[in-house]
Amino acid sequence: ALRASFALKAHKGATVVQTPFQPQASYKVAVLGAAGGIANVKGVAADLSHCNTPSQVLDFTGASELANSLKGVDVVVIPAGVPRKPGMTRDDLFNINAGIVKNLVEAVADNCPEAFIHIISNPVNSTVPIAAEVLKKKGVYNPKKLFGVTTLDVVRANTFVAQKKNLKLIDVDVPVVGGHAGITILPLLSKTKPSVSLTDEEIEKLTVRIQNAGTEVVEAKAGAGSATLSMAYAAARFVESSLRALDGDGDVYECSYVESDLTELPFFASRVKLGRKGVEALIPSDLQGLTEYELKALEALKPELKASIEKGIAFANKQA
Ligand code: NAD
Ligand code: LMR
Repeated sequence: ALRASFALKAHKGATVVQTPFQPQASYKVAVLGAAGGIANVKGVAADLSHCNTPSQVLDFTGASELANSLKGVDVVVIPAGVPRKPGMTRDDLFNINAGIVKNLVEAVADNCPEAFIHIISNPVNSTVPIAAEVLKKKGVYNPKKLFGVTTLDVVRANTFVAQKKNLKLIDVDVPVVGGHAGITILPLLSKTKPSVSLTDEEIEKLTVRIQNAGTEVVEAKAGAGSATLSMAYAAARFVESSLRALDGDGDVYECSYVESDLTELPFFASRVKLGRKGVEALIPSDLQGLTEYELKALEALKPELKASIEKGIAFANKQA
């Protein structure tokens, strides 16, 4: 995660200082659904508590401890819910995960309404709009603090482009926009830094691989779940970026699926500037000067993303 943040800083010409993140203040991060794919909650907490980081790890289990787990929390990460099995789309998880996210976000609204909320549970394209509706109903919605975590798409895009072009991975940064499912995942390869030259065939292959990377893992795990380790890496990067921003670092940029006016869609993943108050600015420049291929892909993803957003909003309102 640290290496990734350094790479982002390097592109903007800032001085690259390879020191670990040493926050000025202390912060609380809650992970709801933390035991996924690994162990029970107590086991995960015991395991994590041995890391030599200046942090304390506490464990909470079950509905009765949910409110306590959220008191005074600055960043809430939500990976709770079921993962895909081979043959499933992320939307096939909607029926189970929509309700889980709704309940957990209600608890967030009641206990730490000021927190940054990172939604990992799929289908992210719908669970983020669900979370927004829940927060609105509770009167605490702050669009600047609600994030769909799409960092894994960026992590994958960076990895695959670096491999393909034999680049030093730490230097590569590919913005990924749109959403987090199939064709709604749109890597803007023309905006890769450092700029790379790719044939049409390479662009097509890389784009499709990035879009299907989650499915690649689901199939390789053959029924035992979806990405967990690369997701943990990506989530750690996004949490660290959020903590840096909360701590006053004025140079933090990440791609995330957020409320947006960059397109006609109410939620859209793009690069955003993070600050103490959450999203400080959406970065429109990645969407300017797109190639014909990217423009076509952008138009093609809109109906699916729109439908997923509407499905989430309808669910949240139906349950009112
Ligand atoms: P998992 O089944 O291994 O773990 C999910 C955990 O959630 C379990 O420990 C379960 O007990 C817990 N849980 C379920 N309901 C809960 C509730 N109401 N409150 C608290 N915890 C609850 O699954 P996983 O592999 O960790 O995946 C979790 C979710 O993350 C899935 O929906 C998956 O699709 C999604 N995911 C998203 C990305 C992304 O890039 N956004 C990447 C990987 C996985
Ligand atoms: C991923 O991209 O790996 C996650 O969204 C999990 C999945 O179902 O693919």
